[in-house]
Amino acid sequence: MPIGETVYLNGAFTRRKDALISPLDRGFLFSHAAYEVTAIYGGKLIDFDGHMSRLSNTLEAISIPNPHDVAGWTDIHTQLISRNQLSEGLVYLEVSAGTYDSRDFAGPEIFTPTIFLFADHRPLINEAAEHGIKAIFLNDIRWRRRDIKTTQLLSQALAYRSAREAGAKTAFMVENGYVTEAASANTWIVTEDDRIITRNLSSDILPGITRGHVIARLRERGLPVEERPFTPDEAYAAKEIFTTSAGAMIAPVIQLEDQPVGDGKPGPVTRLVQRLYYEAIGAEVATAAPWALV
Ligand code: PDD
Repeated sequence: MPIGETVYLNGAFTRRKDALISPLDRGFLFSHAAYEVTAIYGGKLIDFDGHMSRLSNTLEAISIPNPHDVAGWTDIHTQLISRNQLSEGLVYLEVSAGTYDSRDFAGPEIFTPTIFLFADHRPLINEAAEHGIKAIFLNDIRWRRRDIKTTQLLSQALAYRSAREAGAKTAFMVENGYVTEAASANTWIVTEDDRIITRNLSSDILPGITRGHVIARLRERGLPVEERPFTPDEAYAAKEIFTTSAGAMIAPVIQLEDQPVGDGKPGPVTRLVQRLYYEAIGAEVATAAPWALV
């Protein structure tokens, strides 16, 4: 996936090859960093306020001062989008605790952050959204603060490697007999009796911005969402399964391990959710996603 040539590092836009960060950065040494990934569609930031509010929560939780207010962040994002002519894709943002002369676990009282952003050109209303993906189950081995978005992503990277080995595109993480979320998305099921279920918010999962947006759209339509944990067996028995994230928007899951989900095709609730979300972000559904119009 092509990453844009112009990136932002510590106050300046620069060429990617010139953007250098010290190996003594606390992001590199300790994964002491927050990140956000915002979807861009039609050159516009999607659900930006939500991403900014979660960023602020994450930074506060890991003792890094937020280097910008929302207006400042908006300006950096807008300039990055325009300098890279990003029409569809993602903006990745990372704020680490910065670079110091020693490898001191606690670090200084007040951190001076490293700030890095890049543009990532990629289709978000894509093949996976049209045809669906396969998921596997894996033990959730992550730390206890999954509600904040930090770069502690080794378990997620390993989950994606296991998924790829199994011929799948993602993994559903399981803990104490319940699905927490997918490797980098929130998970949803539609039961035999048409109940729409996604896990309730807690420190067990990331409060997905796309998840919140979809709940709001469904509630507006008078479709209640049950927010509670569900088991792998409930997922196997589900008529439909999908995931939500900035990176893949609404991705139908059509196979779990070696079992088809429902009839093995994206179902009507998933298509409705896609349509509502695509309309909300300003997509021309008839041309960008005619398959969602069922
Ligand atoms: N990941 N859960 C996890 C563990 C995630 O990493 C993500 C997003 C989500 C969905 O959150 P949102 O709807 O705000 O994108 C849920 C991003 C896309 C990533 O790491 O690339």
